Amino acid sequence: MENFKKLLDGIKGIGLGNALRTIIYTNRKKKADKAYWSVVNKQGSELRIPGKLSDVKVIENGARASFQNEIELEIVFLKKDMVRTTWTPGNLPVQYAVIKDDWSDVDVKVEQVDDSWVVSSDELKLQIHPCGSVSYFEGKKLIRQENPPRLEGKAWTQTAELESETKIFGMGEQANRLDLRGNSFELWNTDPGGSYKFQEGPLYMPLPVYYCSNSNRGHMVFHENTFKGKLSFKEEIEVNFIGGALRTYFIKGEIKKVIGKLTELTGRSPLPPLWALGFHQSKWGYKNEGDIRRIAKGYLDNDLPISVIHMDIDYMEGFRVFTIDSERYPDLKSLTADMEEQGIKLITILDPAVKVDKDYPIYQEGIENSYFCTTPEGQTFKGLVWPGWAAFPDFTNPKTREWWKGKYSALLDEGISGIWHDMNEPASFVSDGDSTLPLSTLHNLEGKKGNHAEAHNVYGMNMNRAGYEAMRELRPDRRPWLLTRSGWVGVQRYAWHWTADIESSWDALKMTVSGLLNLGISGISFSGSDIGGFSGKADTELFIRWFQLAAFTPFFRNHASCQTPDSEPWEYGQIAVDIIREVLRVRERLLPYIYTCSWQASEFGFPLMRPMFWDQDDGNLSEIEDSFFFGDHLLVAPVLEEGQKERDVYFPEGAWIDFYDGSVYEGDREYIVKIQIDKIPVFVRSGAVIPVKENSSRILRLYAAEGTRGSTTSYIYSDSGDGYGASMVEEITVEQNEGHININRMAKGEYYPQE
Ligand code: GLC
Repeated sequence: MENFKKLLDGIKGIGLGNALRTIIYTNRKKKADKAYWSVVNKQGSELRIPGKLSDVKVIENGARASFQNEIELEIVFLKKDMVRTTWTPGNLPVQYAVIKDDWSDVDVKVEQVDDSWVVSSDELKLQIHPCGSVSYFEGKKLIRQENPPRLEGKAWTQTAELESETKIFGMGEQANRLDLRGNSFELWNTDPGGSYKFQEGPLYMPLPVYYCSNSNRGHMVFHENTFKGKLSFKEEIEVNFIGGALRTYFIKGEIKKVIGKLTELTGRSPLPPLWALGFHQSKWGYKNEGDIRRIAKGYLDNDLPISVIHMDIDYMEGFRVFTIDSERYPDLKSLTADMEEQGIKLITILDPAVKVDKDYPIYQEGIENSYFCTTPEGQTFKGLVWPGWAAFPDFTNPKTREWWKGKYSALLDEGISGIWHDMNEPASFVSDGDSTLPLSTLHNLEGKKGNHAEAHNVYGMNMNRAGYEAMRELRPDRRPWLLTRSGWVGVQRYAWHWTADIESSWDALKMTVSGLLNLGISGISFSGSDIGGFSGKADTELFIRWFQLAAFTPFFRNHASCQTPDSEPWEYGQIAVDIIREVLRVRERLLPYIYTCSWQASEFGFPLMRPMFWDQDDGNLSEIEDSFFFGDHLLVAPVLEEGQKERDVYFPEGAWIDFYDGSVYEGDREYIVKIQIDKIPVFVRSGAVIPVKENSSRILRLYAAEGTRGSTTSYIYSDSGDGYGASMVEEITVEQNEGHININRMAKGEYYPQE
């Protein structure tokens, strides 16, 4: 019965025609994948281990070790506490994630110690044992122990020790707990098909990045390999990729420091336009201009602050990308102008797949210039998405990206403010199995050439690269804003991410907290979730609780499936509207603070949502997964259980002040806090200065609890909210001591807020 319902929902979602076509496509894909694996298997699956260490050569900033079985390990220090190891044979990765290669020189020593070799900086020592295992030391302290890797055909596998007290965080997008230990994750961007729940995976954007937290042995690991792979954290850590060299970055240190370095390597999120931090309303099913105007009016009539409305796939002509249906939107330019007058921006969705239609210029151009992915036989590959049969632009081809970039003017010229990239895993509908392109599909990979097994995970990333560059070039005075469903390490340079088709349930609300925190730890500073869940209808309580949580997440959007009944706030009754109005007002009030957090993301790579062990990793704080910091000074303790009347809140050191009623909580201990329906518990660090917007003025609020001691630094970033003009950073230090408060302010920059 449940399967039948799933089938019916599937047909409703993609249409009957497409549902029938999936049978044809699924068969085709299965055959292609079978052929692919038979070629791979014919190439041999001989198992190789490094064998005995035979030679070590000194190279710039490191060493190259050769082993008996024609296997090599290259070790290069990028910083004293950051090292890159590369096991070959295998193709080196096409440089999509890494943006920096001019690291300053590190003083590296290479020496033989008994029968092993030691490659070291002042801070980190790698010992290569004669069998190919590698130990990482800080002084005498062992931080990581890797076993000799194995090469089977072209697939590398390596294990490393997982000590009993180590916790694992990161891994990009996961529907899981905060500590990921005990799980196994596929590294393959995947559309789960309209809905997913707790521990379902892989999802749209798993990433081969994780942080091992273990008293003072913390370190970050990034495997720079785009091939289909797997990472598991069960009895030991095991990583596997079906192709490519086994290249790994290791960064030693506590969480804040390693995120800073990871994002120095892979890039940081640019500062967004201020409006993007406001509230976004969306729903798959808004059909025409009338719907958009009705929604805007609903928000204004109910006195609900709103910043953005999203237009899902129905604005297009027959789901042809870069077109606008002229019956549904006879004058989009006037619509965007009218909305702008009311303070509302419009965003359009954009999928990668191009409808197969010989009368459609984008399809024709793509065919004529070979911009699309091809089958191994050289035919244009055809998959299945909303418009039916569709071709897939090969975004790993620089020429395709250049062509695609030019197309965004069709939307931007109409006054569209930002773009929402969807279905870019890439997704192609199947009746069962993996909903994407066959592994043998051919890609350009920046001229290197390769197949989908290698290019799949970076497909979405490169669509975002094209989109971001398009917005920079077509609208040079304004900051780009893009949202993406899929991506790879480094996608934060181009777009924000959201957790897409999450089911509507309390479990989903819980995993949203851990999921967004783990994304932040993976370098994705800006993310969010569909308020209320995407699939299924939230009841009023769940909807309100989700809304309250989302106000303290970077991307704040209400969105749901076309099969979910209308879900604007007023659909949940007057009480919900009144509560949500307050939530929206709090978000508005906090915008100067959230903007400052966004600046920190762009400067330091810090996520806006940070785990409780952000300032102090004492082992206990990393156990907490139902609270988090939002920026430097807010501690958010969301309500994640149905009917909850009270909850435990653990306060880290210092003192904490209730954001709403000013009551004070001592740090380093747990309290039971009473809960009301109209708000979730939020606390401010004593000593903090929070910039807020009140009656269109910027006000600095100082939070100081009696009896607190010590010094707290707050930053405030301000500029005009968009573009690339003047800015100002204020650094305010508050010293509290025996009833005295000393305030010190330093400012850098030329921007003076008007108030
Ligand atoms: C996908 C997206 C969802 C969107 C729908 C229709 O399911 O994840 O957000 O509404 O496609 O475009």
